[in-house]
Amino acid sequence: MPNKSFSAANLELKDMVDIDFTVNSVRRVLRVPCNYTLLDIIRYELKLTGAKEGCGMGECGACTVIMDGALAPACLVLATTLSGRDIWTIEGIKEKEDAKPIIDAFIARTATQCGFCTPGMVVASYHLLTKYESPTDEQILEGLSGNLCRCTGYVKIVEAVKEAAKELNTLKKEGRDA
Ligand code: FES
Ligand code: FES
Repeated sequence: MPNKSFSAANLELKDMVDIDFTVNSVRRVLRVPCNYTLLDIIRYELKLTGAKEGCGMGECGACTVIMDGALAPACLVLATTLSGRDIWTIEGIKEKEDAKPIIDAFIARTATQCGFCTPGMVVASYHLLTKYESPTDEQILEGLSGNLCRCTGYVKIVEAVKEAAKELNTLKKEGRDA
């Protein structure tokens, strides 16, 4: 359970909020404590534990998801603002065809060490590569600027994103030529 000052068991109805939203293309209708964040909901209600709680303050990016097409730190999104939202977590993104080259490149380039930041890094890289086909170093650094890593020194992460971009462009070209 999230480390909140009260738990669902001893809440009154007025302390709960009903939400109706979409996570990884599945509609979810839930009643949760009104002090829950999106990170609490995806990890503890939906058991999608890829997003991690690092800082819990919007600074580290370990909890990054895509919300309505934009990157969002799930730890800062309150349950009360969630109805109608479209959320993608690492669990949904990793099933997408165009995410596979990113995951493969992170592994091949050893861009993941302890792995705590990696789900958020992959989500942010996926979002970046939907915007830029061949991002420059500056665009990659800007795109991943909300994600901190304590292990890799970032060089391998940037290399992995570039390699993934190359592979995605090759796959697109093969698709066009087929
Ligand atoms: S846990 Fe959400 S940004 Fe750090
Ligand atoms: S791989 Fe350990 S924090 Fe990034």
